[in-house]
Amino acid sequence: MTLLSTRRFLQIAGLSAASLLLVACGKKEPPAPAPVASAPAAAPARVYVVGTDAAYAPFESQNEKGEIVGFDIEVVQAIAAKAGIEVKFVNTPWEGIFNALAQGDRDMIVSAVTITEERKATIDFSNPYFDAQQLIAVKDNSKVSKFADLKKLKVGVQTGTTGDEAVTKLLGKTSAAIKRFESTPLALKELEAGGVDAVVADNGVIIHYVANNPGGKFKTVADKDFVPEQYGIAIKKGNTELQAKVNKGLADIKADGSYDKIFAKYFGAPPTVPAAATAAAPASAASK
Ligand code: ARG
Repeated sequence: MTLLSTRRFLQIAGLSAASLLLVACGKKEPPAPAPVASAPAAAPARVYVVGTDAAYAPFESQNEKGEIVGFDIEVVQAIAAKAGIEVKFVNTPWEGIFNALAQGDRDMIVSAVTITEERKATIDFSNPYFDAQQLIAVKDNSKVSKFADLKKLKVGVQTGTTGDEAVTKLLGKTSAAIKRFESTPLALKELEAGGVDAVVADNGVIIHYVANNPGGKFKTVADKDFVPEQYGIAIKKGNTELQAKVNKGLADIKADGSYDKIFAKYFGAPPTVPAAATAAAPASAASK
């Protein structure tokens, strides 16, 4: 008798303790099932760490408060909201940014990263989210009118970018006339100071810098021989689960107009004609 009632007491006590706990947590969940190993609990919300080289306005930069802001940031935030994932942006130097991804220190890289065949060997990419092309910045009294004119000049680039690749191809691997900088704004400052004759970098960044530094007396020179580029969000090779989530989120923000809103905020008008198509390539060839 005594034994039975004790057990019964414990059962009741156990139950009410459980419900007390539920009340305390403020959760309206059904009573917890028996603790069997099979039932997978909802995984704790994981925060995806997004690396970005935040010296690349208007795509990513730091405001006066030190917050990382820009087109890329808003695109990834919108994608994350659709995909139901949490993201945190961490300023990461461009040199070594893909290493940080490979090492697992970053889950994604959003940094105006051009999708290239070479990079695809070691990195996975989301679907493209932006069309770009190289552009030349020179002083406004420069005689440069096309890319080939840079052959005999000193040219500034950001190390390891597609601009670096293009200039290396033109001037040769061992050329001492190529000045490599750790950021694109540093290369442009050197142009202003007269240390280089030209800078080659992504059109969006050059246009933004020239517009915001009228004192620098720059002009831009386009060349249709620069190949069309497309930005993608870089994801660790093999992480197909995250890649699928990001691609789904990207498709969603393109479908519901939120991508166009972000685009218009930074670039004025919605992306009607892809930059790749304007660059004289037939539309079909642009999406290789
Ligand atoms: N689009 C170029 C590339 O992928 C330059 C990107 C540089 N991005 C940056 N945030 N610094 O090589």
